[in-house]
Amino acid sequence: MNMDLVIHSVYIVAAILFIMGLKNLSKVKTARRGNLLAALGMLLAVAITLLDQQVLNYQWILIGIVVGAFIGTLFASLVQMTAMPQLVALFNGFGGLASSLVACSELLRTWPSTGTFVLVSVVISTFIGILTFTGSLIAFGKLQSLVKQQPITYVLQKTLNLLIFIAIVVLSVWISISPTNLNLYWVVAGLSALLGILLVLPIGGADMPVVISLLNSYSGVAAAMTGFVLMNNVLIVAGSLVGAAGLILTQIMCKAMNRSLTNVAFGTFGKVDPSAEKKDQEYTQVKSCGAEEVAMMMDGAQLVVIVPGYGMAVARAQHAVRELEKILEDKGVVVKYAIHPVAGRMPGHMNVLLAEADVPYDKLYEMDQINSEFDQADVALVIGANDVTNPVARNEKGSPIYGMPILNVDKAKSVVVIKRSLSPGFAGIKNPLFEDDKTYLFYSDAKKAIEEVSQELKS
Ligand code: TAP
Repeated sequence: MNMDLVIHSVYIVAAILFIMGLKNLSKVKTARRGNLLAALGMLLAVAITLLDQQVLNYQWILIGIVVGAFIGTLFASLVQMTAMPQLVALFNGFGGLASSLVACSELLRTWPSTGTFVLVSVVISTFIGILTFTGSLIAFGKLQSLVKQQPITYVLQKTLNLLIFIAIVVLSVWISISPTNLNLYWVVAGLSALLGILLVLPIGGADMPVVISLLNSYSGVAAAMTGFVLMNNVLIVAGSLVGAAGLILTQIMCKAMNRSLTNVAFGTFGKVDPSAEKKDQEYTQVKSCGAEEVAMMMDGAQLVVIVPGYGMAVARAQHAVRELEKILEDKGVVVKYAIHPVAGRMPGHMNVLLAEADVPYDKLYEMDQINSEFDQADVALVIGANDVTNPVARNEKGSPIYGMPILNVDKAKSVVVIKRSLSPGFAGIKNPLFEDDKTYLFYSDAKKAIEEVSQELKS
């Protein structure tokens, strides 16, 4: 049978598997299957590409596979769950760089007789790929505290970005129409690198998840453009899917944080009013409690809403939480989990952890579903969550989280917050919920605290 036909048929199967994988990934219940399907699609795509007659030398490919598999396995096993966003930022960045390097090598191989279609695709792939690379490095630096987390702003910032963008467009059109001067291509690559840095620098650390999601989408677009350079169908399909899925995720996160997509794309959000930052961060009237009091509050409750956050992930408390839930249910208490879309450090963070502890999916309530129920809750049990419960998001203009929809924890009849100290959350700001009359702070590691409460309830 014609080899080309086989290759393209397998590419179609791989593309179908990617689409089915994405569909399954959209629900917690089917996410694992989705991951497997997409991985199988990728395996098929890679394996069949290696059979392509245009592959001249397997030696370098093998070296690449061995080195890549080694680094990937090492990262996957060593990186802490809490540092996952940084890792994703790096992966996106390297994805963008890889796409632009492949496009660049194709340009150098065919120059100066490169066709216009390939030229246009190379230039777009380079622009988006390199911008993704440098932007992701800055995002990584901010999350790792290697770069200042606060927005870095200066005069005429947007104008400068716009001028650089216009210069890139003009030079790209010039190269595509008259491919005589290869140096122009290097200038486009350099300006794209600069623009990537300048677009991410003004965005505050607390908004990095949205930026990373957008950069993920960009890396997909760069891959799709490289697919056009090589006329490789599966790369075009896979890149477009990543681009579209990343954009949808960015939009969902923008909605969850009340940001506008245009502002993220042009690096103009997350700006903090400096006077708001100087506001008093000290707490004056916080009531503390211990396991016994919490157990008593919950013993007589009808509805307990558990609000998990980043601290639950750090403490790996999900199994202890599930145990507590069962004890409460045995006592006739209704238990619900309130999941904020950006609780934790990556999209779906809480869902994944709670699924790992076998918490039934029908007990997980998204913010919009649960917010109206807080006023009926006898106890809102906040476990290592902070920013997603902070009422200043509602009304304090200039706060880094202003406008972010929050869980209405302060509407519950009583609130218990488990955390180790009065340290702030990711956004680095004070949370007035802790000074609310009906709030009690249980200073402890989340896992230890939950185990103690369960013990009290059992006895
Ligand atoms: P945070 O606001 O970051 O608060 C987490 C709290 O957990 C901290 O105040 C910390 O207080 C406590 N904590 C840490 N370790 C603990 C432990 N072992 N036991 C008990 N408590 C512990 O978390 P959140 O409410 O989940 O909000 C998420 C934040 O992260 C948002 O600002 C969001 O924008 C940002 N973010 C989200 C994502 C996504 S997509 N989910 C990605 C990156 C950033 P103590 O130190 O006093 O214990």
